[in-house]
Amino acid sequence: MSKRVRKAVFPVAGLGTRFLPATKSVPKEMLTVVDRPILQHVVEEAYEAGIEHCIFVTGRNKAVIEDYFDMAYELEDILLKRGKTKEWQALKADLPKPGAMSFTRQQAPLGLGHAVWCARDIVGDEPFAVVLPDMLTMPRKTGGKRCLAQCVEAFETHGGNVIAVEEVKPEETHKYGVVSVGDKSDSTFEITGMVEKPPQGTAQSNFIISGRYILSPEIFSILERGEKGSGGEIQLTDGMKTLAHDQKFRGVNFDGQTYDCGSSLGFLGANVAFALASPDIAPEFRALVKSLLNAPQD
Ligand code: G1P
Repeated sequence: MSKRVRKAVFPVAGLGTRFLPATKSVPKEMLTVVDRPILQHVVEEAYEAGIEHCIFVTGRNKAVIEDYFDMAYELEDILLKRGKTKEWQALKADLPKPGAMSFTRQQAPLGLGHAVWCARDIVGDEPFAVVLPDMLTMPRKTGGKRCLAQCVEAFETHGGNVIAVEEVKPEETHKYGVVSVGDKSDSTFEITGMVEKPPQGTAQSNFIISGRYILSPEIFSILERGEKGSGGEIQLTDGMKTLAHDQKFRGVNFDGQTYDCGSSLGFLGANVAFALASPDIAPEFRALVKSLLNAPQD
């Protein structure tokens, strides 16, 4: 069994109801943060972490995702004919290596655990990453490692399974998976318990599961049982909790900021933060935001 994390699963079948009406015809993962779809940002994060193969678990009305990662012959032809070499080069640079992406469909919205299980044959018998595109991560320092790279580093040091976590306000914990914190070493700690969306006021800690995982393939036989948990769905957190009886889980307290693009505030926050971190537009954008903030309010 290969010990390197080469493959990443991106669950992208969600309906995006919080972003209606936009998501009537555009998958939520294709909404843009600054100059590129959310999905492009997380694929770049995966490449930075050494991922070689991206597996998308899609659903109906998501075919545009597959098109996005394909060559756009007509468009390229027009760009070249019009002398738009810079734009053409940008498209070329983002084009994945042939055969380095796979697409499979989750036929019904049965939960995150079920979506990950749908990728079992493509992952095979090796450790793999799970990347939730809703969560966009930005390292604290410019040029620092993004979240998945920090998880892979922890996996290479400690082995087992790794979950990225983040501290939130106590009143936010019921929206997420929450972990209990054991012994600490470096920026990681032993995970001693997990619960998916604990009722308000009952969470064991403020550390939430923030959407990046390194998992061993034994998770698949557990998810295969199809046991339902929170919200009547097959939850990845419940599968990991069962796997934790036999295998170790470590939490990586990501050194940076995560933006939950599943909510409109998080999505807007991501746009502002990523724009302020884009050297080509940051100075003008900063001035624009300042002038908007200083404008008289009604
Ligand atoms: C999922 C996971 C949850 C995690 C969250 C992060 O929940 O089940 O453990 O904390 O993503 O965004 P969902 O957002 O699909 O409800």
